Amino acid sequence: MTEFLRLAEDIAREAGDMLLAKRPTMSEEIETKSSPTDVVTALDKASEELIRERILAARPGDRILGEEGGEEPGDSDVRWVVDPIDGTVNFLYGLPDWAVSIAVEVNGKVVAGVVNLPARGEVYTAALGEGAWLGAERLRCNTGVPLAQALVATGFGYGVSRRAVQGQVVAAVLPRVRDIRRGGSCAIDLCSLAAGRVDAYYERGINPWDYGAAGLVATESGARLEGLHGRPVSPEFALCAAPGLFEELHELLAAQNPERDA
Ligand code: IPD
Repeated sequence: MTEFLRLAEDIAREAGDMLLAKRPTMSEEIETKSSPTDVVTALDKASEELIRERILAARPGDRILGEEGGEEPGDSDVRWVVDPIDGTVNFLYGLPDWAVSIAVEVNGKVVAGVVNLPARGEVYTAALGEGAWLGAERLRCNTGVPLAQALVATGFGYGVSRRAVQGQVVAAVLPRVRDIRRGGSCAIDLCSLAAGRVDAYYERGINPWDYGAAGLVATESGARLEGLHGRPVSPEFALCAAPGLFEELHELLAAQNPERDA
């Protein structure tokens, strides 16, 4: 596990340094993916290429799933799950909340995760059963927060019909909580939860590369990360909070039937 974590951290730092040095301007040519606002820059691709090269140089044969390049086949029990830039829109606009995220799965279970926020100089790490860390600081999520006092992070998908429902759901949540935060990076939302900077997070439509590494950071900080109705976290739905708040927010969200698109 230590070897996985060290390698993932070295690679996430190298990719982060490269991205920080070459940060784009809005005039850069960008492509779009699932919708006109779902962007991918040349640097998303360059970051993922660098990460893939470094992983395969150190561990040839391991499988890799990356946001931009899809799944690299292999026969290893080990799979690396990579988001070369989570928070691409922030990256493009010069906002600081974007991250390089690398998780290591063994037999389908995440055992190590690194989330590097180059523009903030923060690196979050976690190893299964061994805790979550921001640099040298051990992380523990906030506990004992009632729903009415909770600062809740969330995010919205790129598709119009999904957003229409997400707008209805957040309208039902907002009057019941302290406030809502929309930071623009799922990975950073989950790390912020681990660091006690928000109390809860939910979102429909995030992918394993968004929540792989940061999900382990959150759960190792003491939080629960699941889908609705006891299902595992998945692109269908993700809800994360300390036990207690988790159940309260679950009740509120489940009543909204949020796993649907308009
Ligand atoms: C997105 C971010 C955002 C979330 C979206 C994700 P990307 O990832 O994590 O916070 O709301 O659902 O797709 O596109 O920046 O890699």
